[in-house]
Amino acid sequence: MTGQTAHEAQFRTSLLEENDGPGTNPTDNRTMGEIIAARFSRRGFLKGSLAVSAIAATVSPLALLTAEKARAAGASAFTFDEVEVGIDDRHHVAAGYDADVLLRWGDPLFADAPEFDPAKQNAEAQARQFGYNNDYVGFIPLEGSSEHGLLVVNHEYTNPHLMFPGIVTVGEKEGKKVLEQAALSKEQVDIEIAAHGGTIVEIRKDGGKWQVVRDGKLNRRITANTEMQLSGPVAGSDRVKTSADPSGLKVFGTINNCAGGVTPWGTYVMAEENIHGYFSGELPADHKEASNYKRLGIPEGSYEWAAHYDRFDLAKEPNEANRFGWIVEVDVNDPTSAPKKRTALGRFKHEGAESIVAKDGRVVFYLGDDERFDYVYKFVTAGKFNPDDRAANMDLLDEGTLYTAKFAEDGSVEWLPLTFNEGPLTAENGFSSQADVLIETRRAADLLGATKMDRPEDIQPNGVTGKVYVMLTNNTKRKDDQVDAANPRAKNAFGHIIEIIEDGGDFTATKGKWEVLLKCGDPSVAEVGASFSTATTANGWFGMPDNCAVDSAGRLWVSTDGNNAKDTGRTDGLWAVDTEGEARATSKLFFRVPVGAEMCGPLFTPDDETAFVAVQHPGDGGEEWEGFGRPSYYEDLSTRWPDFKPDMPVRPGVVVITRQGGGKIAV
Ligand code: FEO
Ligand code: CA
Ligand code: CA
Repeated sequence: MTGQTAHEAQFRTSLLEENDGPGTNPTDNRTMGEIIAARFSRRGFLKGSLAVSAIAATVSPLALLTAEKARAAGASAFTFDEVEVGIDDRHHVAAGYDADVLLRWGDPLFADAPEFDPAKQNAEAQARQFGYNNDYVGFIPLEGSSEHGLLVVNHEYTNPHLMFPGIVTVGEKEGKKVLEQAALSKEQVDIEIAAHGGTIVEIRKDGGKWQVVRDGKLNRRITANTEMQLSGPVAGSDRVKTSADPSGLKVFGTINNCAGGVTPWGTYVMAEENIHGYFSGELPADHKEASNYKRLGIPEGSYEWAAHYDRFDLAKEPNEANRFGWIVEVDVNDPTSAPKKRTALGRFKHEGAESIVAKDGRVVFYLGDDERFDYVYKFVTAGKFNPDDRAANMDLLDEGTLYTAKFAEDGSVEWLPLTFNEGPLTAENGFSSQADVLIETRRAADLLGATKMDRPEDIQPNGVTGKVYVMLTNNTKRKDDQVDAANPRAKNAFGHIIEIIEDGGDFTATKGKWEVLLKCGDPSVAEVGASFSTATTANGWFGMPDNCAVDSAGRLWVSTDGNNAKDTGRTDGLWAVDTEGEARATSKLFFRVPVGAEMCGPLFTPDDETAFVAVQHPGDGGEEWEGFGRPSYYEDLSTRWPDFKPDMPVRPGVVVITRQGGGKIAV
């Protein structure tokens, strides 16, 4: 989901007007917009930028001819006929491709798991079935195969109004229909808890079609109640001890797992993002965690879990929230292993954790903190990756250096270490150990002067080009006085993508160069200031970049969260984005989602013959589609994707895309 709270997401109407998180950064650190503004102003970029917009706005026959020529010359690295934008109750993929549903909410993963029955939901069944709201999708090949492996999928959050019958009534507010939701029962809360977390499931391609291996011996469900370990510098800290866990070493569950990653040694990492929504209640007066929690917007209380479980009530368990907001590592080879919360990678609203092996063998994880005005990070392991000894890599994530990014006007970026007793991270500023620095990662980065970004989502290193792509989804709360004439991105509704090249092509470098790859939005509206190439068609542009992937050829694919047909004429989808040569900043629509959904994943198998995409919260919306025109809920759904049966609710699901007749995608 977006940086919105789950509650807001449930009842959103127009995302462009939505709150996108509490925006809790109190510092005067410069925003990315301010830096870009100053930089482009200095280089006289404004002229060029407006000129591009003006051409696109008029779309002269000459410009169209140029675009056609560019494509005819094969300038784009992607070969497919793009999908037309629009909105309806179905998904759509480029002609010549199949897009088949592989897994849906409720699909049984084990021989003993019941078939999904929406009228007879219970937590025990849900814990043995595919969870809700699939977000990150990873593929871990078995025996090096691109046709047999483990699919790992995050289940970020739940939408009770789409999951449970009989809990919504339709009211009216200011002449508009609004949904009102009854309190959930304990049984429903337990289903929510079991529908969170992640899935590990064996899949296999048979006769050109992917199948789920039900009861595969490595199949596993992880939920918001699975026993896990706290690992790394924070393990055992007084600040993570609770009445249920006086050791500060054992945690139950992981929540709001947004994106993630697969490590070079074949483990699955899950990012805990919007953790604030699950906590309710008030800290005891003058509690020492008050400012720490405020910086993360805790408690936000949109979930009703605290009504049934004391640990989500700050008044009763004031330290529980310090045990969430981490990167969680799962050893997929052992379904009985306790997942480990790797505290060395910091605590914030973790979007994802994509990684790459650097030249010297150390491993670098790129990390975004998805909040307006928050920061970009990377973690560099102290130890080196050993490709011949998996076991030797299993604790690499417990030791290393966490850095935050400071972007400068001259196109350089500096990575500042979050290391106790270095710079301002001292006792004088309230840090008594590295554990303190990590528990309050945001405050440490504030003090270091990190650059305030427009909601960092996925960050993807590209092993082919050596570049790193940073998705910045949007920041509608940026004020006019935070930008200048050179940067028409106040109320940055559509986001942008930054490209980083680390010094010497070394991902561990503490300095690098940066450039804006793309400012998103409709390039035909000059005021938007979008910077898609003129070869980009009316179907090709997008807003709100969120997840991304690079295929094995090093080509960039971007999925989006928040394109709303009312405002943009399009749903979310998967776009192919050229990054190199003349076609740079040309984008093409490959796949689009049904009404109400956002696009998560994407992920390519190593042979580039399969793409996995996750359709998250389909049916969560309907006003924006003329064909429906009202809020959507269990009894009155804007889509019943993907089953389209009257007795089956809409179900989030993973879609597998292959080329008809076989072959690599978009080649
Ligand atoms: Fe869960 Fe930042 O999207
Ligand atoms: Ca999202
Ligand atoms: Ca995301």
